[in-house]
Amino acid sequence: MPGNRIDIPVTQPYFNNEEAEALRDVLQSGWVSQGPRVAQFEEACARCVGTQWAVATSSCTAALHLALVALGVKEADEVLVPAFTFVATINAIEYCRARPVFIDIDLATFNMDVNQMDSKITKRTQAIIPVHLFGLSAQMDPILELAKKHHLLIIEDAACALGARYKEHPVGTFGQAGCFSFHPRKIITTGEGGLIATDDTGLAKRLRCLRSHGAESSDFERHRGKKEFLLPAFNELGFNYRMTDLQAAVGLKQLDKLDEILQRRIYLAQRYTEGLGEIRGLHVPLTPPGWIHSFQSYVVLIDEDASCSRDTIATQLALEGIATRQGTHAVHALGYYRTRYGLHPEDYPCSLRADRQTLTLPLYPSMKPSDQSFVIERLRALLCG
Ligand SMILES: Cc1ncc(COP(=O)(O)O)c(C=O)c1O
Repeated sequence: MPGNRIDIPVTQPYFNNEEAEALRDVLQSGWVSQGPRVAQFEEACARCVGTQWAVATSSCTAALHLALVALGVKEADEVLVPAFTFVATINAIEYCRARPVFIDIDLATFNMDVNQMDSKITKRTQAIIPVHLFGLSAQMDPILELAKKHHLLIIEDAACALGARYKEHPVGTFGQAGCFSFHPRKIITTGEGGLIATDDTGLAKRLRCLRSHGAESSDFERHRGKKEFLLPAFNELGFNYRMTDLQAAVGLKQLDKLDEILQRRIYLAQRYTEGLGEIRGLHVPLTPPGWIHSFQSYVVLIDEDASCSRDTIATQLALEGIATRQGTHAVHALGYYRTRYGLHPEDYPCSLRADRQTLTLPLYPSMKPSDQSFVIERLRALLCG
């Protein structure tokens, strides 16, 4: 039995010597900023996601911001987005001075409630950001139908969902742009990092330009044209949202492990569901038949009238060496958004409930079955004891 410090973390990256050797090779090459490894990583990610192009960025937040800017989302435009997500999804809309239009979630999936979207569309609506939260795809058919009917852009927030599928389709391929995260809590990691997947060649070109200060050629292209004296043109206001070759080298090794990581996550998730599925007051996550949930997080919902509250469970588990987290945030109820848009926590009741009653359990590819059994046993003791 683990001792009384945190012995079972919520997550742990899955590295071996391959990442260390790949990093050493990059250091020895002398080219550590965005260069040949980033290009290789982008090609490998495009193949993996199933789009023609992939543009690597410094984070998924940067990817979302860049995609919105490149697609022309601007001041006073409205963007439909779930109220229950990580704050970065909605911050990216604010960076464009556009207005987030919050949609409440369906508590069965933790994703945007598609029945509440139509009534929120106005003349100013430009885009929808479906979030595939915790690795489960949003319900894409009705979202695509709505986007088609109202001529709206779709920018997927697939931060948590590399490898997830909606029916037979990989997430990140439904709209104009699909954004992924490589933060250590995600499916694969490059430390920090992100990516935009797209089939639009013009958009990919514009994203590459905007991620590097608006420069129309990259440092590496200029370096390769050794005999010419090349100066880039800067015709747009851009950003420094580049990924480094150090990150991309790690990412390439992580991508090699993707199938193994996903299999392991799905296996552990099934094991949790078998161990916890019958507990009164606790709801295990749902995977609709034929979809693939990538289980970036295994998040349970604790009923308000359960024998133990979410916060008591989290505190008790921490005392026994088991780390947990809340699922994610009801962003409309966070101080900045509440004040900026005059919102009340109760405006989006399911998002608020998810904020207060979800619990993320430890899950990572190297998790020992005996540790997982301990988590299950302690949860059972708290809720059924
Ligand atoms: C749903 C969602 N969107 C966006 C992000 C932002 O990703 P990053 O940390 O790579 O900027 C996260 C990260 O936690 C996330 O969970």
